[in-house]
Amino acid sequence: TGHVTYDPGFVNTAACSSKITYIDGDAGILRYRGYPIDELAGKASFLETSYLLIYGELPTTDQLAAFTEKVQLHTMLHEDFKRFFDGFPRDAHPMPVLSSAVSALSTFYQDSLDPFDSDQVEISTVRLMAKVPTIASYAYKTSIGQPLLYPDNTRSYVDNFLRMTFGVPAASYDVDPAFAKVLDTLLVLHADHEQNCSTSTVRLVGSGQANLFASVSAGVHALSGPLHGGANEAVLQMLGAIQADGGDAASFVRRVKAKEQGVKLMGFGHRVYKNYDPRAAIVKQAAQDVLSRMAKPDPLLDIAMKLEEIALADDFFVSRKLYPNVDFYTGLIYKAMGFPTKMFTVLFALGRLPGWIAQWREMINDPETKIGRPRQLYVGSPEREFVPIEKR
Ligand code: CMC
Repeated sequence: TGHVTYDPGFVNTAACSSKITYIDGDAGILRYRGYPIDELAGKASFLETSYLLIYGELPTTDQLAAFTEKVQLHTMLHEDFKRFFDGFPRDAHPMPVLSSAVSALSTFYQDSLDPFDSDQVEISTVRLMAKVPTIASYAYKTSIGQPLLYPDNTRSYVDNFLRMTFGVPAASYDVDPAFAKVLDTLLVLHADHEQNCSTSTVRLVGSGQANLFASVSAGVHALSGPLHGGANEAVLQMLGAIQADGGDAASFVRRVKAKEQGVKLMGFGHRVYKNYDPRAAIVKQAAQDVLSRMAKPDPLLDIAMKLEEIALADDFFVSRKLYPNVDFYTGLIYKAMGFPTKMFTVLFALGRLPGWIAQWREMINDPETKIGRPRQLYVGSPEREFVPIEKR
């Protein structure tokens, strides 16, 4: 087939050009719209970073205020939409609930689905940014049988989400400002990562001119896998299993090196980074800060640090350039904040949302966009004669 290139996993294939995110995997560099991630994390809020990703420039004070107000105007869910949450089993994983709910937004907002109408794309952008935190917290509230809280738009984006998640109607809820700040930073760190699995999915679905809700809903599913966003949940399960086994990090690493079926060092390795993930360095510091404030230290932090220490000194990992990625330490922070393990990947989705939206918008406005349609190498049977069923 002449000009067809075989590239499983798209390791060497650029499927688009993009102005949004720059990664130099060998040097461990990540920039959004030219700004280094370690400058943004801690200095720019999540909504500010979202604005940067989606519109291309850091907002002025007035622009950020206007964007924040627009988002706050749309944080409520339609009353009929709420019935949705009762339709799932109580023990449902919140990722498929989130994906289904995002998909369902397209049934409630049928007037704004045209990918080529910029006003409709704008209102869909705002609705997604506003409603995904509400959906995420309602998925959690339903799973524990607590009433759903209306958004409180006098609070910041993250404060409002934390209150909807952990607050109850009968009592006031004071968000721990240190937790809110760390969560905001973690969302910034997850906000975009160029053509990763879920973002490529969003672009691919959108390249067929499916609407923004449909595309993002597919992205949520793509993110759920343990090799992608689901890794933060898988890391905590791994640390828990090591702890239950007596806390022997070295013996777990031996099993990884022996390539035992299904045993990987979760939270390690990356397709693009062949150096320390710059996000992981920031997360590790945040984990140490947050966990040192806890009344009771989490023994899983020690296990994680021990695992990292052993791996970074071991030729198996060194020769393969395997370093901790963004999700090696995030789960420990989420756990300290009180999130159940099942919610970890939902938090990743909350963070990645502006990246998905920005990439979808860039794709739809790019005159070079074509429907995504990979080729294949056919390795099946050559032509053969049909055998009627009674003769098989
Ligand atoms: N533990 C043990 N061995 C590993 C790991 C790991 N976490 N990651 C890669 N390897 C080995 C792999 O077995 C292979 O060895 P060999 O050359 O002997 O066959 C070599 O390293 C190269 O790995 P690969 O699987 O070809 O690399 P990839 O680019 O296809 O996969 C990855 C990247 C992230 C899926 C993979 O490193 C992995 O499975 N990591 C664990 C899951 C994880 O933490 N995922 C989160 C990624 S960061 C958040 C996000 O963006 O989603």
